[in-house]
Amino acid sequence: MGFSRCTLVAFLVISVVFGIVNGDPLVPALCIFGDSVVDVGNNNNLHTLIKANFPPYGRDFITHKPTGRFCNGKLAIDFTADYLGFDSYPPAYLSQDARGRNILKGVNFASAASGYYDRTAQLYRAVTLTQQLAYYKDWQNKVVNLVGKDKANALFSGGIHLISAGSSDFIQNYYINPILNHVYSPDQFSDILLQSYSTLIQNLYTLGARRIGVTNLPPTGCLPAAITFFGFGSNQCVARLNRDAISFNKKLNATSQYLKTKLPELKLVVFDIYNPLLDMILKPTDNGFFESRKACCGTGIIETSFLCNARSIGTCSNATQYVFWDGFHPSQSANEKLAQSLLEQGFDLIS
Ligand SMILES: *[C@@H]1O[C@H](CO)[C@@H](O)[C@H](O)[C@H]1NC(C)=O
Ligand SMILES: *[C@@H]1O[C@H](CO)[C@@H](O)[C@H](O)[C@H]1NC(C)=O
Repeated sequence: MGFSRCTLVAFLVISVVFGIVNGDPLVPALCIFGDSVVDVGNNNNLHTLIKANFPPYGRDFITHKPTGRFCNGKLAIDFTADYLGFDSYPPAYLSQDARGRNILKGVNFASAASGYYDRTAQLYRAVTLTQQLAYYKDWQNKVVNLVGKDKANALFSGGIHLISAGSSDFIQNYYINPILNHVYSPDQFSDILLQSYSTLIQNLYTLGARRIGVTNLPPTGCLPAAITFFGFGSNQCVARLNRDAISFNKKLNATSQYLKTKLPELKLVVFDIYNPLLDMILKPTDNGFFESRKACCGTGIIETSFLCNARSIGTCSNATQYVFWDGFHPSQSANEKLAQSLLEQGFDLIS
């Protein structure tokens, strides 16, 4: 458990070199885009069923209150913000917290059930990535008004932009939507998603972003609810879904490589969450966990969002040793491990 020695040493070196010890974060801002893996409450005030602003969500968070995070506690990006030296988390852009100077260290545009394919978000009345980009432009204008053009531009180019998307496009749309899965093969659907990814990166670049990190797909076939829905009664990871995820991830790598050659000043890192998460799932005890098939909330094999609530029967009393908090989302302790892996992979973004 905890930092590996190597991570810790590298982290300390980086901290000293970049002055985190003086109380300044390593980068001036952190902006977040995407889906439920990184949503910190944007869905709370939307007319959507995909929410997590009620107990037992948030029961192990700093405030022990639900915030809209799809977790018992902190998300991987919360730990990332801690490691980067921020003393607060980027507020949900649609919340009351995103006011005045609170927006100057970055904001969070992510919306659960959103994805690269705008129709996915629309199905659930979530915020599409296209709209998230429009909000990002609004945010930039507000920042310019607050600190002036020069300081604002330094913030946009020095700030880190993180994107988490694609899982909902497959799990909450493609696999359950005959209009899509009869027309497109998984490979063709991946190509559509990556076209949208490509456009997003180029648009962010045009707006001045120079440091962008994107997470790849997790082993979607091992998510507890995916095993239940798509596993035909088996308790094993669904091989077909994992194959699709790996194939998408290869294309994501290739597309990102191409984007870097096309956009010379861009630092773009593809964060691998597939392998670290798969390792926790297949070898739970090696990683300090005892349960990776069942999630903590409810029966642990289907519940997420409104189905995971205070009246869910069977919710575990201590989620620390569960890899999954609900049917689709990692627990706080799994998120902490993921964030440590992200830190090891992310040095290029900070330097
Ligand atoms: C993507 O690239 C990274 C490093 O460049 C590599 O470690 C990873 O295995 C690649 N992923 C896939 C699915 O090809
Ligand atoms: C939960 O379990 C972990 C060890 O698995 C332990 O360290 C922690 O104190 C427990 N938390 C509560 C609230 O009992």
